[in-house]
Parts: sequence; structure tokens; C-alpha cells
Amino acid sequence: MSFLALIEAKRDGRALSPAQIGAIVSDYTAGHIPDYQMAAFLMAVFFRGLNSEETAALTLAMRDSGETLSWPTNDPRPVVDKHSTGGVGDKVSLPLAPLLACLGFRVPMISGRGLGITGGTLDKLDSIPGFQTLLPTERIQAVVQQVGCVMCGQTDRMVPADKGLYALRDVTGTVPSIPLIVASILSKKLAEQLQALILDVKFGAAAFMPTLEQARELALAMVRLGCSCGVNTRALLTAMDHPLGGAAGNWLEVKESVRCLEGRGPAPVRELVIECAAHLLVQTGKCGSLAAAREQAIACLESGNPRRKWNEMLAAQGADLEAFERKLALDVTVPAVVEIHAPVTGFVSRCDARQIGEVVRDLGGGRLTKDSVINYEVGVDQLAGVGTAVAAGALIARVHAANDTQARRAALRVQSAIDITPSPPAPSPLIREILVADQPAREAQ
Ligand code: URA
Repeated sequence: MSFLALIEAKRDGRALSPAQIGAIVSDYTAGHIPDYQMAAFLMAVFFRGLNSEETAALTLAMRDSGETLSWPTNDPRPVVDKHSTGGVGDKVSLPLAPLLACLGFRVPMISGRGLGITGGTLDKLDSIPGFQTLLPTERIQAVVQQVGCVMCGQTDRMVPADKGLYALRDVTGTVPSIPLIVASILSKKLAEQLQALILDVKFGAAAFMPTLEQARELALAMVRLGCSCGVNTRALLTAMDHPLGGAAGNWLEVKESVRCLEGRGPAPVRELVIECAAHLLVQTGKCGSLAAAREQAIACLESGNPRRKWNEMLAAQGADLEAFERKLALDVTVPAVVEIHAPVTGFVSRCDARQIGEVVRDLGGGRLTKDSVINYEVGVDQLAGVGTAVAAGALIARVHAANDTQARRAALRVQSAIDITPSPPAPSPLIREILVADQPAREAQ
């Protein structure tokens, strides 16, 4: 069957066979399908969707379009990972990877760069002096075996189909399609050859999925497919209306992650780190109950071992540890900092994550296009969390910028993103639901 016939079949709402989908992916990866035809196919999928069998076939074909990682079978440490759909100030992966390594897991945390208002883990790591985020497959495997965790980018040889398809989706309006998102995310995670995966699917003003219902639909599709592919997969549905923690911006988030590893991090970051670790302990059978798993994760974090493991990972990936520790000791690494103070006494009742994300991006901390050059040092820190009681004149945020003009302009925007009201806002939990395969969604507690 020609590719044109397959485009027409999908346009008319017919299901394709796994073999047909496999052929599409391998022909496209080999350069035998022109982008204009693939763009038409993606648009047909956007409107017609894919059923679960088609989505599974697409995911597996994409996984198999390049190299996958492999692990010694005689190593008892389960291979696990976490994926977040991205949010403002979301630095959970950074403390989580060394924590998981200390809990007896192997963690090949292959991450991406940020685009738009959501930061990318690799951009944060690039702010560490000397740290290498691009490693060959053999080195990724060696660091995981030796240290227990690695945080790096995908190699050109892994899941090449996603690279081409994602770039095309990005310029054809076909990114927000649940089956295409599922296949894109899971193909990359399945290429890591995991035993368990925890997903952090965000919803809200600054999330990829604006509503809880949409986030649930995406999460459920990924949990079901992950499990059917032999990876024990769970999802947390988490709110993304205000930034996660008190810092947004690449280096500022690394600093906050290290504080989390030292037991001084903000409560929401710590909560999510502990929760992801606890679920993975249960998913892999290392712990019998979530309550016991949480206790184990907290004790491990507080032992100081994950902080030491973080430095071990940095050294294994080429970082200059002395330069890193010197940089950590600095309060400010930019030419201009402006403080923002509470205009009145009250409670922080809103801190708009979308606005804060846009400010950080416009300061140069994020990308407007794939080729934008990042300033790793800029951003916002010391953000007072929603619910915090503040007195008039108290510090509620700082802007770090490349010059005074940019800092002052950004400060006005940050100020307008924060509301202070006489009474505290109604409490709203960060983790809203937990999705486990073939079980109804349950409210987090
Ligand atoms: N992240 C991905 O890796 N792929 C998507 O399609 C969307 C988000």
C-alpha cells in the first residue's frame, strides 16, 4: 500500500494495522517519506486520533527506530525513571535522580531542553561549570552502572523518529494530539528499558494541559500503554498554577535543588520529590506500602547521601566541582538584581506561573525559538509561596537580570503576577490524583 493510501485511510477515519504504522515510521526515519506527506498524515491523526492498538504500534516503532539502552541482567537494582510534562520552576528531577540512586535504583534520566515558558532539565544542568549533558550511549550506561544515575540528553542514535516527527509537529500545529504526545514521550522512556516509570502530568495555567480532565486523559493513556509494554507506570496529576518552589530560572533552580538535597528546599519541591521516590519504591516491590516508602525516602534524603551522590554524578559527567561549589556560595551571579516587596500586609493568594515563566523566558532564561541562546543566570528567586503570610514591605521575590533596565521591567511584571489579600486563599493540594493502571483515579492523600 502506498503512503498516500495510508494518509487517505486515516483522513477517512479508518484504523491502520501495526505493520502499516511500523512501515510509516521506518520509511520516514530512512528519509523515504517527504515532510509534506508526513505533515498531512500527522494532521489526519490530529483530527481522527489513533486507537490504543495504533498508539501502541506507533510508540514501539518509534522506540525501535534507533538504539535502546541495555543493562546487565545480574544487577539487582531496578532501572527506573520519572517524566514531567513540564512546568515553571519544576526542578524535581534534579534532586530526585541522586535520591533514587541512593535508594538502590539505576536511573538513566534522559531529559530535554525547554521551549517557551517551561524550563528544561538539560538547560538547568548546563548552568553547572563543566557539566556534560551530551554523552554517547556507552557512557550513559557506564555512568548509570557506576554512580546509579545519569542526567543527560538523548543521543542522535536514540529514537531518531521522534526527533523528525516532533520538529514537524512543532511547525504544523499537531503537537496537542494525545496519541502523538503519548507515543513521543513513551517511545523515549521505553528506549531506556525501564522496569518502572513515574509520570508527573501537570495541569493548570502554566501547564501543557490546562484542565485536570485533559491531564487525566493524557496520563491514563500513558499509564495504560506503559504498563502494557511491561513498564510499571503510574502518574501523579499535579497543579501548575503557581511556580513550583521559590525559584524559576536555570541556575537559580539548580541552587534550589541543592538546597532540597540538603534538607532546606521548599516544601512543594520536597513533597513531589518524596512522592515520586515513594511510588517507585512501591512500584518495584522494594517497599510494601506508600507510607513506609515515604518514610524510607525521607530518611534517605535526610542522611545527606543524595547530596554526596549529586556531586558524584556531577564529577562523572565532567563538572568542575570546585567551581560548582564556589558558584553555589554566591548569592548573585548576574549584573542586576531587583527586590520586590509586599505593598500591603496579608497573604500571598496568587502567583501566576504563566506570567513568571514568561518573565524568565523574556529575561533570556528560556527559548522563544529552538535556536535562542540561553542566559543561565537570570530568573526569579525568593518567591513567597501561595498561602504565605507577609507583612507590608517584606521581600516577596527577586529578579536576576543581565542589566538594570531589564531587571526593573521584569520586576514590574513579577509584581503584577502576585496578589496579596487580607485573608489566606483556600488550601489547594499540589498532588491532585494518582493514576495506577486499571484502577480508577484516586485522590491523593
Ligand atoms: N513532550 C514530548 O517529549 N513530546 C510531546 O509530544 C510533548 C511533550
